[in-house]
This record gives sequence, structure tokens and C-alpha cells, in this order.
Amino acid sequence: MSVAGKARKVTTNTLQEMKRAGEQITMLTAYDYSLARLVDQGGVDVILVGDSASNVMAGNDTTVPITLEHMIYHAQCVSKAVDRALIVVDMPFGTYQGNSKHALESAIRIMKESGAHSVKLEGGNEVVESIERILTAGIPVMGHLGLTPQSIYKFGTYTVRARENSEADKLIEDAKLLEKAGCFAIVLEKIPAPLAKMVSEAISIPTIGIGAGSGVDGQVLVLHDMLGITMDFSPRFLRRYLNLEDDIRGAVEQYVSDVRSHEFPNNDEQYE
Ligand code: KIV
Repeated sequence: MSVAGKARKVTTNTLQEMKRAGEQITMLTAYDYSLARLVDQGGVDVILVGDSASNVMAGNDTTVPITLEHMIYHAQCVSKAVDRALIVVDMPFGTYQGNSKHALESAIRIMKESGAHSVKLEGGNEVVESIERILTAGIPVMGHLGLTPQSIYKFGTYTVRARENSEADKLIEDAKLLEKAGCFAIVLEKIPAPLAKMVSEAISIPTIGIGAGSGVDGQVLVLHDMLGITMDFSPRFLRRYLNLEDDIRGAVEQYVSDVRSHEFPNNDEQYE
């Protein structure tokens, strides 16, 4: 049986064993109880309570405004729904940069208050001190390199990262640094596929790609994007598995029409 097939509960060790066995890791985001339940039942290995909640749940343009309290709330909802997947929670902007003591306090709050299993934070050598301090408390940390949306105001665009040699070299160094610091996996976002493959081969911890090609150890997508709820976001890497925007709007239009025309409720849909 495969490593993933054997795992009744996915742990950070499961993911590392999957890499060694050459099995691809699956990860999706979730932010609420109802969808997290379905994602877990669908057999995904890792559920990311992403700070993309800032965009898809709260309607913000960036991930910058979401707070620690918001992330803990979303993680609590997800934790109640999940039996098998490993739950990773994004540490929001402003809760770990620059001060490792603050980073540790933020990570401890996430773990104590949400029931999640691990945290993720963006960046390489700039945040390695925070990562090391969080790890001293026994909290597993996932890294995130390449396009790091919390730094949008530094880079100015969401285009592909690390096309230049200097940025690619830094990314490889950062990946090795995160592995050495003790991260259990690293998300690689929107970087050239050959670079992502090179990084994945250079480190022993799993890489999970989004817009990073097929040479990585697993894939992640934002749930609302792959379900076709957020149709205004169409990067090349995104595969839509459903078109829920049309289905949901159509269902609502039908309901409005049925109520207005007295077609709903019918005789079978009421009590004697
Ligand atoms: O917040 C998020 O959804 C993420 C993924 C894009 C990896 O960080």
C-alpha cells in the first residue's frame, strides 16, 4: 500500500516518507467547516488555512490586512471538520517578521487556540530566526519561497519570481537554509518549473508547488479557484475542476424565480 494510503492521520513524517517513496503530496486551502469536511473526505493530504482567506473570504485585494484573530477563527472552523489531513495555518503579515519572540507568541496562540497541527510563514533568511525560535517550542513549520504575497508592496506585481540568476540563487540558498533550520516542507509559488525541480532535488524535505511545474513533490491550489468560485483570477497554472460561479448564481436565480412565482414551496414541501 502507498504511504498516503496507509496514513490514517497525516503527519509531517508522512509527508517526508511520501517524498522518499516518490509519492506526490496533495494540498488544498480551506477556511470553513463545511468545505474543510469535504476536502478532507476527498482525501487531500494537507489542508492549508491560507491567508488567501483575506482575498477569497474577506474580499480584500491582498493578504496584508488579515489578522491573527481572523486566522485563528478560520483554523478553529477547519480543525473541527478534519479527521485525516495535516492542518497548516498561515501566520499572517506582521505576526512573525523582525521579532522572533513575537513570532513564537503568535505561533503558540495559533496552536493553542485553533487545534491545528503546524504553521507556515513566508520568506527565507530574513525570517529564519523566527522559524528556529518557533521550532524550539515543538511547533512544525512549513516554509514558503518564490512569490510571497505578503510582500506584494515590495515587489509591486504577482508575476513569476526568480527568473533572474541572482534571485534564483538566493531562492536555492533560502531553501537549503529552511531545510537546515528544520522546516518540514516548503511551498514554492510561481517560479520557473526547471528551478523548482532543481530545488526539489537539492533538498530532502518535500516541496509543494503552486505555479511551479511538475518537478516538485506535491501541488497546492486555492480551493475557491479550483472550484471556479473566483472567476476573476485566471493565472496560467490554475486548473478549474468545477464552474461553481455559474452553478451557484444559477441556483440562486432559480430560487428567486420559484419563490416569486409561488412555485416554491409546493404541497410536498410543507406541513399539514
Ligand atoms: O494563502 C494561501 O492560500 C497560500 C497558497 C497560495 C500556498 O499561501
